[in-house]
Amino acid sequence: MYGMVNQAIRSMVIEKLGKQVWVDICKDANLDPIGFNSFEQYDDEVTLNLVGLICNKSQLPPPVLLEDFGKYWIDYARKSEYQAILKNFATSPVELIESLDALHSRLQLAFDNLKAPAFWVTRTGDKEVLVHYKSERDMPLKYFVLGLLKGIFAMFDQECRVDFVEPKSGETAVFQVNY
Ligand code: HEM
Repeated sequence: MYGMVNQAIRSMVIEKLGKQVWVDICKDANLDPIGFNSFEQYDDEVTLNLVGLICNKSQLPPPVLLEDFGKYWIDYARKSEYQAILKNFATSPVELIESLDALHSRLQLAFDNLKAPAFWVTRTGDKEVLVHYKSERDMPLKYFVLGLLKGIFAMFDQECRVDFVEPKSGETAVFQVNY
């Protein structure tokens, strides 16, 4: 993953658990606590290893930590240099979810080897959608996406409920969102 993602993890750990915890985790992971280069590609193992170590230190199970990180990522991106992309792409949460592929395509200008996820939406009711997610990665990211979806609704000051639905072949995960 591009360093920007690991950098956001670093920022969340320092903010929620303190700088010393981050330094200790880096010692265990053999990483420089100064941080990551946003535009460098790191092996996915680096991210996975970090998640495991943070779970150990914080006593949080991986699904909880990943969901928290998904929510955190939205706030992090809103404060980043890419905030305009996030704010200007859509006027509602569902519209933003429908625009995620276009949003990541736009980001390929900065991150030229982005292995972006794919999202598509099926409208199943007046206030209900199915969000389909496909990743090329061999990483358990569905709880990260759960947090991202909740974070998107929170960004528009809207409540939502998100449940997992059985994915079909070619899908990594499917979420039923009621709002
Ligand atoms: C301006 C805001 C955003 C920026 C700058 C951004 C940037 C990135 C970057 C750099 C990666 C790493 C990909 C790689 O290294 O190959 C990534 C991955 C990812 N992004 Fe975004 N992103 C943004 C918004 C979002 C939003 C709103 C979602 C909501 C669902 C999202 C979902 C994901 C997911 C799930 C991945 C993991 C890749 C995978 O599933 O294989 N991103 N994004």
